[in-house]
Amino acid sequence: MSTIDEKKIIEALSGLKHPQTGQDIISEEILQGITIRDGNVGFLLAVHPDIAEAFEDVRLACEERIRALPGVLSATVVLTAHQSAPSLSSSGSSSKGKPPPDETIPEVFNRIKSVIAVASGKGGVGKSTVAVNLAAALAQMQGEDGQSVKIGLLDADIYGPSLPKLLNVTENPELDETKKIYPIERFSMQTMSIGYMVKEAQAMVWRGPMVQGALLQMLNDVAWPELDILVLDLPPGTGDIQLTIAQKIPVTGALVVTTPQKLAVADVRRSINMFDKTKTPIIGILENMAWMAGPNGERLHPFGTGGGDMIAAETLKPFLGGLPLDPTLQEATDAGQPVVIYAPDSFAAEVFVKLAKTVNAAFKDLTP
Ligand SMILES: Nc1ncnc2c1ncn2[C@@H]1O[C@H](COP(=O)(O)OP(=O)(O)O)[C@@H](O)[C@H]1O
Ligand SMILES: [Mg+2]
Repeated sequence: MSTIDEKKIIEALSGLKHPQTGQDIISEEILQGITIRDGNVGFLLAVHPDIAEAFEDVRLACEERIRALPGVLSATVVLTAHQSAPSLSSSGSSSKGKPPPDETIPEVFNRIKSVIAVASGKGGVGKSTVAVNLAAALAQMQGEDGQSVKIGLLDADIYGPSLPKLLNVTENPELDETKKIYPIERFSMQTMSIGYMVKEAQAMVWRGPMVQGALLQMLNDVAWPELDILVLDLPPGTGDIQLTIAQKIPVTGALVVTTPQKLAVADVRRSINMFDKTKTPIIGILENMAWMAGPNGERLHPFGTGGGDMIAAETLKPFLGGLPLDPTLQEATDAGQPVVIYAPDSFAAEVFVKLAKTVNAAFKDLTP
């Protein structure tokens, strides 16, 4: 049996022209994330939404050429700005106003009961760490019926995906001939990240509209099973992608992560305001790196104190307490495991188990 490789794919696509520039699509560097799995081939064509329609023929031609290669069972080519991605970037001047949000909610949410967004105004505060560990702690829980709670985890940070490292995922997701991408299961969670498909350096160069398209495709084109809770690890900031999420994704509740510095709260405040504007309930504020244990077990505060408390009081949102700066968390990360699995008796694991209970209880009230 002949085996298919990246080189053969690129060869097969050479000569296909960009509908606008007339250049070879290979030389235009729009081809991203080639995935080969048991003869199933997939990749992305990253194009601006304005020319997405013109690209449909190219997309089909790509699929046709790849399918014709010996050893290929299926070919799935995805435009990162397919029509399913709304043109949020367009001014909307010709439209009769935006359709009501519920009309445009992706169909995948018929299978997903609730969504928690883990957010913060800026990066490096431990959002991904919290998202992964909260999801893992939720996945260990049992629902009222004694069944485990079905958890999905979506890394919505297209610019800086974290899941490959945090969960030690080095394989590519499986594809099938129904054009679906399969989530990768880790620690009883169904997980997906653009980092499973696109190499780190490539992910960084994505521009706004492509990012929105990619996020929606990670919802629509992924074969998500029935889930009780989907945990979304949001990228930092309050820009386009957060807006897409607010408009297109029925977020049940948001968890806002902050750090103890009082000076850092401006970003957090902006994030909270955004959720308030879209009427997304905020489950609470978690203060990360709140303290670190001193040599005699005392609490040291290398990053100051009071930031979380202050913003909670100011915005009237629940303060969910602190997570210490904990070397065990770093060790777990280096091992590619959630801390609730790596060191279930650790203080950090305790914090996440408690947090999972809080979220689960809050969601009981928030979901119909
Ligand atoms: N409580 C903590 N204790 C120790 N290390 C932490 C803690 N929270 C986060 N980190 C580390 O800080 C870095 C940034 O965390 P990350 O979760 O990637 O932040 P974000 O997603 O907000 O950018 C990572 O290296 C992570 O392992
Ligand atoms: Mg992150």
